[in-house]
Amino acid sequence: MSRRRGRFLVLEGLDGAGTTTQSRLLAERLRREGRRVHLTAEPSGGPVGALIRQVLRGRVAGGGGEGFDPSALALLFAADRLDHHAAEIAPRLAEGADVISDRYTLSSLAYQSLTTGDPAWVERLNARAPAPDLTLFLRVRPAVAGRRRFAESGSRELYEVPAFQRRVARAYQRSLALLRRRGERVALVDGEGPVEAVAEAVHAAAIGA
Ligand SMILES: Nc1ncnc2c1ncn2[C@@H]1O[C@H](COP(=O)(O)OP(=O)(O)OP(=O)(O)O)[C@@H](O)[C@H]1O
Ligand SMILES: [Mg+2]
Repeated sequence: MSRRRGRFLVLEGLDGAGTTTQSRLLAERLRREGRRVHLTAEPSGGPVGALIRQVLRGRVAGGGGEGFDPSALALLFAADRLDHHAAEIAPRLAEGADVISDRYTLSSLAYQSLTTGDPAWVERLNARAPAPDLTLFLRVRPAVAGRRRFAESGSRELYEVPAFQRRVARAYQRSLALLRRRGERVALVDGEGPVEAVAEAVHAAAIGA
């Protein structure tokens, strides 16, 4: 059995961009091609991830997520990320599996930079999170992502307000530029086409990693 380290791939984008859909499709396709693949997501399935989900669903500190301090939430996301990497991602990579994560550091650089108003602090909090081999960013205009989310469900969790999503889109652009300045690999994929076309582009970018 191969002990070569697997590749760590991350899917990113606005809420409704299709990161969950495309993470699954990429995992299925790489498995069909004979690779071992571990599919995961953030917030993670670990203890800090469970806490974050409670906050986002508004079950903590008074409802709606808005009652929870945004800086405390940024700390939870950063803590979850380190635990997620150490407990789940790194061991699978070491076994030789590819790991695909639906969201990772770039999500905090975008969302938590906005909600805390302190991008430099969020960058510092996440400085110990190991870089992925490739971050795939699904480019979808906020209006398109919003329509998809609305079609899927009438409910609105924290982060799903359209005006906020326009600010998130700009924050993602700034954060992508930051990853590039650090020398991290980033691939921009047009996420507005049909699911199959996006999947094809994601796969092409991923196998180039
Ligand atoms: N390329 C596409 N074209 C049209 N609809 C799509 C496409 N990709 C995904 N969808 C649909 O858009 C909705 C959101 O997709 P998905 O859950 O994959 O997005 P997401 O980025 O994971 O969203 P969230 O941030 O809310 O988790 C789903 O109903 C999905 O079926
Ligand atoms: Mg999703």
